[in-house]
Amino acid sequence: MPAITIDETLCIKDGLCSTICPMQIITPPKGEIPPEPKPEFSKWCTSCGHCVSICPTGALSHSSMNPDQCPTADYKLIPGPDQFEHILRLRRSIRRFKKTPPEKEVIERLISMAGYAPSGHNFQPVRWQVFTNRDDLNQLVDMVCDWMKHMLNEMPEAPHAPVFKEVVKAWNEGKDLVLHEAPCLVLAHSRIQTGTEPTDAAISLAYLDLAALSLGMGCCWAGLFTMAAKLWEPFGQFLDLPKGHQLHGAMMVGYPKLKFQRLPVRNHPEIQWR
Ligand SMILES: Cc1cc2nc3c(=O)[nH]c(=O)nc-3n(C[C@H](O)[C@H](O)[C@H](O)COP(=O)(O)O)c2cc1C
Repeated sequence: MPAITIDETLCIKDGLCSTICPMQIITPPKGEIPPEPKPEFSKWCTSCGHCVSICPTGALSHSSMNPDQCPTADYKLIPGPDQFEHILRLRRSIRRFKKTPPEKEVIERLISMAGYAPSGHNFQPVRWQVFTNRDDLNQLVDMVCDWMKHMLNEMPEAPHAPVFKEVVKAWNEGKDLVLHEAPCLVLAHSRIQTGTEPTDAAISLAYLDLAALSLGMGCCWAGLFTMAAKLWEPFGQFLDLPKGHQLHGAMMVGYPKLKFQRLPVRNHPEIQWR
């Protein structure tokens, strides 16, 4: 059961922990030391850490985190809108990678940054699997192409058929249009419990895609791979995800071989103001 403890020598009784608690578990009237939440309320606690994060004196500790584990927020580090927009526009899907895979520590840093993405109920359900072995990566592409050949036999007129034909033909000629010879593939998977997990995973992967820029790396969503891996049975054994887990998405990761010079145009947003 989550619990909070207050250092009464530091508490300035400003009531901010009570104001910020999204589940209204901490309920001191302003001017008092917050009491320990009742067990019947603390079961709703999502361990979001807002109570620790809002306290200006570091007086409040939560059983999942104490103030010493939570660095001081530095708002000066937030880029301005022009800078931020530039970063968002600069991110590209990378399909030409240097051969060497990123170092294990760098991938771990990248995945840990993706872990700061929001998640439903703060469950942080996403788990990761990382492939960097060339033979394994090639085998994954092989399996995607097997699935595509199977689909072409079963449903030759399906809308994806022309793409599948092209991908299989290219692979037969030694060109990888599935993973673009990426030196690393990162998979996001989870158990399904509340229903938000596929969204949680997509947000984490989008964070990962952006965070890669800061590490000099680039990514590309592996949509074809994900589609095949979700539907083609032989992947089950090969990926060997924990029991009850589903694959939600995958990202090619590596150091880009080429540098984009301009920011391409995107559709003007269609907004209905109400
Ligand atoms: C869900 C999703 C799946 C994708 N799957 C693939 C894929 O399998 N192969 C690929 O080369 N690009 C894939 N992409 C990348 C898109 O083609 C790319 O985002 C789009 O063309 C825009 O280019 P940009 O990312 O450089 O802005 C995927 C993107 C998303 C969001």
